[in-house]
Amino acid sequence: MEFAVEARGLRMAYGEGRARVEVLKGVDLAVRPGEVFAVMGPSGSGKTTLLNVLGLVTEPTAGRLVLGGQDIYGGRWRPNLQRLRREKLGFIFQFANLIPFLTARENVLLSLDLLGVTGRAAAERADELLQSLGVADRSHLLPEKLSGGERQRVAIARALANDPKLILADEPTASLDAERGLAVMQLLRRLADEHGTAVLVVTHDTRMLGEVTGVIRLVDGTVQADEARPVPLARADGEGGFSP
Ligand SMILES: Nc1ncnc2c1ncn2[C@@H]1O[C@H](COP(=O)(O)OP(=O)(O)O)[C@@H](O)[C@H]1O
Ligand SMILES: [Mg+2]
Repeated sequence: MEFAVEARGLRMAYGEGRARVEVLKGVDLAVRPGEVFAVMGPSGSGKTTLLNVLGLVTEPTAGRLVLGGQDIYGGRWRPNLQRLRREKLGFIFQFANLIPFLTARENVLLSLDLLGVTGRAAAERADELLQSLGVADRSHLLPEKLSGGERQRVAIARALANDPKLILADEPTASLDAERGLAVMQLLRRLADEHGTAVLVVTHDTRMLGEVTGVIRLVDGTVQADEARPVPLARADGEGGFSP
């Protein structure tokens, strides 16, 4: 399995008939384990739609999507998407969306519980996650007592509970100041380096680009290869076309 995620000719449209709007018009991309790609493009260019399609939240109208070597829509059997999402993917959003009446630690424990990890194993894992994100000393606090950056780090701890193969982060730094935003990006980079996690992160902030492997630029519904750091584009001309 060479790529954590691979898309060829992905299309996505909203609406029917005259109201139909094509947002993705044939997106090609391929991201290896341990790579961090920034997803950039103007507002309304389809960045969130792309993440939702790659994250198995929205079914594309056409195209091929391969996650961890598994052809999601092209195989004879449709895999259990909800289960794949729960077990293989991690989502991070602009706002942490922590459960307000649970402490930081309980928020992480809840995610573990949903994965079937309970008791002592869950407690140890939650503390390890909070520790690695530098918020162990905040773990007993409710979200309202945390700063924006701390909340986001707890949300990341929660997203990492399943040790995801692919992290999809939709503007995770947009609600943070520059310094905290950069810290979150560095954290995603470290995860990729240390765990081989593949990361796609939507950002508008070019100051974050020091941390990324490359840029996936959405223009007119397709991916424009970045001249300086080419996205490993999937070629339509058969096998072996993925090598840089
Ligand atoms: N659920 C939806 N129904 C109809 N149109 C949508 C829906 N979600 C997004 N769109 C439209 O699709 C386009 C891309 O949206 P989005 O993926 O959110 O872009 P971005 O995240 O780059 O700002 C926009 O024109 C938006 O209005
Ligand atoms: Mg968006």
